[in-house]
Amino acid sequence: MTRKILIRPQKTPLRGTITVPGDKSISHRAIMLASIAEGTSIIRDWLPAGDTIATLEGFQAMGVPIAVDKKSHQAWDLTIEGQGLRGLKSPGKPINCKNAGTFIRLVAGIMAGQTFTSILDGSDQLRKRPMARITDPLSDMGVNIESTDGKAPLTVSPSTIQSIHYEMTVASAQVKSAVLLAGLFAKGETTIIEAGPSRDHTERMLSAMGVDIQWGDGTVQMAPPISLKPLDLTVPSDPSSAAFPIVAATIVPHSEITLNGVGMNETRTGILSMLESMGAQISVANKREAGREWVADVTVKFDELHTTAVSGGTVVRGIDELPIWSVAATQAAGDSTVSDAQELRVKEVDRISILAGELRKLGVQISEKPDGFTVSGPSRLYSAEVDSHDDHRLGMSLAVAGLVTHGMTLIHDANCVEDSFPGFVESMQALGAEMEWVE
Ligand code: S3P
Repeated sequence: MTRKILIRPQKTPLRGTITVPGDKSISHRAIMLASIAEGTSIIRDWLPAGDTIATLEGFQAMGVPIAVDKKSHQAWDLTIEGQGLRGLKSPGKPINCKNAGTFIRLVAGIMAGQTFTSILDGSDQLRKRPMARITDPLSDMGVNIESTDGKAPLTVSPSTIQSIHYEMTVASAQVKSAVLLAGLFAKGETTIIEAGPSRDHTERMLSAMGVDIQWGDGTVQMAPPISLKPLDLTVPSDPSSAAFPIVAATIVPHSEITLNGVGMNETRTGILSMLESMGAQISVANKREAGREWVADVTVKFDELHTTAVSGGTVVRGIDELPIWSVAATQAAGDSTVSDAQELRVKEVDRISILAGELRKLGVQISEKPDGFTVSGPSRLYSAEVDSHDDHRLGMSLAVAGLVTHGMTLIHDANCVEDSFPGFVESMQALGAEMEWVE
């Protein structure tokens, strides 16, 4: 059943301390890499969301024993028996990647090293997303990979994989990771020249697993390993999920909230840079290292926001947070602009035109350009019914906008928020937000 989220105008400040669920990018990678390690991996606080459960079920179907301790609806502990680099078994049917772009693009690299042919498929939404960005470099490496007119389903057959020196044309961690994962099975070194500072979770995890990999200054170099050591990992809270309560606290007057244990990897903190440049009061405390990633406790206090212009590396470091950033921009006086963000057009949906269309229904002044948009604030937001278009980040962004509308907001087609943030509504309620699920 498709549920809706109902939001009432927020009359009281948001207050309190919560922990948002685990990082989606790290949770996908932990399943994939632990499955091809030698030995038993322990993953704590793994994210049980729609996208990552697709990955878990996909690897179980390929013969990987995964014991699941369902601690809560927001965090599972996993024990994964690695099958070795080439030890996966044919699932005997297509692998269903559902809505998960990270799953299909990264697993393509792993399937190239297996001894059977696999078909990678997913939802209608996933079937619309571009796959040539991975099939091109993988083909250059000698991977037998076929797409359907540059889209999923993909067919990957056993391959003899060559080393590659690859200059990326898009700043994409999924593309970089697909090449690195195929590179695990290559006859020689993999070298990648990046087009921008995309997230480096694959590099960090491979390094923790004993792989000879170096990265920094836009270059990644990796030698193919003989085997991967198992992981012992606690997944940090996802900064992309933290962004929703963070922005909510910057726009609901007199709010003050703290989020514990948020991932602080510099390739992921673009949203903090964007909000700080708007004058938001954000303090980061107790910074510590956990599983080769940095985490910290983040406190946000309401204050007046100014406009800003976002472009370049900051866009790459906060690509998934631009929809929720646009909600903060509605409350700043003047024009806030994002440029260099054409990648937003090939996410779960075209996040520029769909976002603009839904925000306009709430009374926001927003104009589109090919590589971004401009929000002219401050906007007085009106009561409206809006639609997530089955995009989790749009659904949550609209729900946060609903807190500052003058009337009730109803988000249709809202189940998708659980693709990345199980318990989103409950976490927001814990901070005092006036939102609830309705049938
Ligand atoms: C991700 C990389 C990003 C991001 C996506 C998750 C990852 O996509 O938008 O939500 O886990 O590697 P691109 O690689 O397409 O930029």
